Amino acid sequence: MSTETERKVGSLLGSSLGASPANGSSSTYPQESSQSSSAVKVIKPVSKEIDSAKEKLSLELKQKQDELRASNGVKEIRSFREKLPAFKAKAEFLKAVAENQVLVISGETGCGKTTQLPQYILEEEISALRGGSCSIICTQPRRISAISVAARVSSERGEPLGGSVGYQIRLESKRSALTRLLFCTTGVLLRQLVQDPNLTGVTHLLVDEIHERGMNEDFLLIILRDLLPRRPDLRLILMSATINADLFSKYFGNAPTIHIPGFTFPVVDFFLEDVLEKSRYKIQPESDNMQGSSRRGRRRRDQESKKDPLTELFEDIDIDSHYRNYSASTRMSLEAWSSSQLDLGLVEASIEYICRSEGDGAILVFLTGWDEISKLLDKIKGNRLLGDQSKFLVLPLHGSMPTINQREIFDRPPPNKRKIVLATNIAESSITIDDVVYVIDCGKAKETSYDALNKLACLLPSWISKASAHQRRGRAGRVQPGVCYKLYPKVIHDAMLQYQLPEILRTPLQELCLHVKSLQLGAVGSFLAKALQPPDSLSVQNAIELLKTIGALDDTEELTPLGRHLCTLPMDPNIGKMLLIGSIFQCLGPALTIAAGLAHRDPFVLPIDRKHEADAAKRSFAGDSCSDHIALVKAFQGYKEAKRTRSDRSFCWDNFLSPVTLRMMEEMREQFRDLLTDIGFVDRSKTADAYDQYSHDLEMVSAVLCAGLYPKVVQCKRRGKRTAFYTKEDGKVDIHPASVNAGVHLFPLPYMVYSEKVKTTGIYVRDSTNISDYALLLFGGNLVPSQNGDGIEMLGGYLHFSASRSVLELIRKLRVELDKLLNRK
Ligand code: CDP
Ligand code: MG
Repeated sequence: MSTETERKVGSLLGSSLGASPANGSSSTYPQESSQSSSAVKVIKPVSKEIDSAKEKLSLELKQKQDELRASNGVKEIRSFREKLPAFKAKAEFLKAVAENQVLVISGETGCGKTTQLPQYILEEEISALRGGSCSIICTQPRRISAISVAARVSSERGEPLGGSVGYQIRLESKRSALTRLLFCTTGVLLRQLVQDPNLTGVTHLLVDEIHERGMNEDFLLIILRDLLPRRPDLRLILMSATINADLFSKYFGNAPTIHIPGFTFPVVDFFLEDVLEKSRYKIQPESDNMQGSSRRGRRRRDQESKKDPLTELFEDIDIDSHYRNYSASTRMSLEAWSSSQLDLGLVEASIEYICRSEGDGAILVFLTGWDEISKLLDKIKGNRLLGDQSKFLVLPLHGSMPTINQREIFDRPPPNKRKIVLATNIAESSITIDDVVYVIDCGKAKETSYDALNKLACLLPSWISKASAHQRRGRAGRVQPGVCYKLYPKVIHDAMLQYQLPEILRTPLQELCLHVKSLQLGAVGSFLAKALQPPDSLSVQNAIELLKTIGALDDTEELTPLGRHLCTLPMDPNIGKMLLIGSIFQCLGPALTIAAGLAHRDPFVLPIDRKHEADAAKRSFAGDSCSDHIALVKAFQGYKEAKRTRSDRSFCWDNFLSPVTLRMMEEMREQFRDLLTDIGFVDRSKTADAYDQYSHDLEMVSAVLCAGLYPKVVQCKRRGKRTAFYTKEDGKVDIHPASVNAGVHLFPLPYMVYSEKVKTTGIYVRDSTNISDYALLLFGGNLVPSQNGDGIEMLGGYLHFSASRSVLELIRKLRVELDKLLNRK
């Protein structure tokens, strides 16, 4: 492709097409207007020139595609592609796309939906010389799958990534003027809709993995259903694993469905009882799995709740009759199992068993989260029973993993090496590893749920659905007959829900509500009532209330300019507000670090065997600040300094920090800074230091945290020699055991702000910072003089100050000015 044509087309079809945008939110999709009878008519003074540029591009794309098809590499992979079940459905699929506006495709995972179907459309469009004017978008629920799929498709086509196939995820993209098929996250498409509600120029939109019922996907489907009549030329293709495809077809007025029959080898199931017999493993009831909680605390809790969780969960099932058949030792183990959480020892024993007694083939282990993956990685590395470590290739696979070392996961391992992939439910359907023969399924996934009454998110590993268990099991039979080791008894399986609850029903809705407002979709409640399964009104009300409290919505529920700024920052609105305030008060560095740590993951690692040392390291970063957020800021600063002297590796090692996470945070900070520049909160012409004048002033940083995180406030009340913590909604709460504030008896200041509150075994505030009442007086709540004129209304009550009316008046004026700064346009 000549660079001249590329440039010309780029400049003619709008700047967005020519550039590869550096960040997700400000970038746009190809903006050429569609050629057919679109309802939106754009008058273009240079339309003739555009048409001829498109024609030229179409021609060049076709020539290039023909050349690539003839090359050897592509020929080889073509035979692989033609063996995929999707290939048999190719003609039927393309015909249905041409004839219907909406199409639902279901098919077994691995049959070729994601990599093949968008590619068929691309090939077809290019062959028919429509390459210049087509724009195919395929959304993915996760960043990691958007990248890996785009990479796969471009390599199948024999071209570099960012040619006719590209990707775009939040804050990162690989695409060019030539890109015709773009894989992006659903979030990126939603942000694109803010700028272009008609998706002008997009010809085909494929929404993948809709069976997962992620919040973004459910939300997108409401928007698309409304958009379709306005864009009769737009083709919408919904792709799902073989789960409940009818539901989606009905939602789109009985849209036609194509099912791609897949082929999998038979898979044998073993349940916990079989695994126990086979592995001769005795379950330890006190497995070290409740993150951060002490053994004593756990024992106490166990005693408090006499009922064991198994009985509690499945009260109506006659468990006894299921147990009668088991041997005494298995029965004992099962009883022990029921009083513990996921037992990594059991997972390890199953791996051991497979390696010792079963044939070759990769093992895929489903775990609930990063913590367990890294603990199990350590365990396997130290396991002598497994023998020679060089015989294993142990690979983690997790949604927020940096994207390096991807290939290893898909490739066959070297001969005599067994691949063991430790994954979260990402490997359930969006990523397919072909050579898996053994699946070990812990039966749980970390799932957020939302408690609208207490306004809190609960993050608990909970039982997966039958549909998920079926998916996980299916991963074992891709290349030969496989085995699935389910680490739970059959009774549990029988009692599992058929499908998982959709995310929209189990998460706080503030970010979603902001999106509804920014897309001008009308009243939030009535818009969300159009969802496949609408959230309840209390959840919507809570979200709106919070957005009003932080000033993102006004009294009439309209978006304020501050709300608009928060929409462009891809993070929780409270954290976004903290960033804006950080830039105003010139402690941007710490605000960026905190935002990156909270949006991604904090860099502190807690190895089980050296937990006390790791805790001590984190506390030493916090110093006497009583703040997890400041511990994070200090750890990051230390890392940056160590990097200057090239001692960052040993710095991370000595201080129990993850260098991978810190590097990711560095990148995210830069990208957040770019976003702040885009919305005018950071001036590009100023030096970076100009925004860091108060970055070393910890009181200022705490005040900025308070301003951002309000109303997430906990009151610290002295009870004898200890402190008790209260919130308005929950009454008494606890500090999370992993916090630097855990176990501190008395605090210098009377309040805490926190970034997240979770319900696990109790209600815990995770990362917290001790703040003064003055910080609240200046930044939190509603500054209304109480009756005797000496306080402010806050958290449903009054906070009393001995300040005079004139001081309060002065503070009010300062707050008005701050509001103006936050609401600048
Ligand atoms: O979307 P679906 O689950 O139907 O399948 P896919 O992701 O399109 O993958 C089809 C096949 O391509 C898989 O079975 C893998 O064999 C292969 N593939 C691969 O080798 N490497 C990738 N990064 C993606 C897919
Ligand atoms: Mg797929």
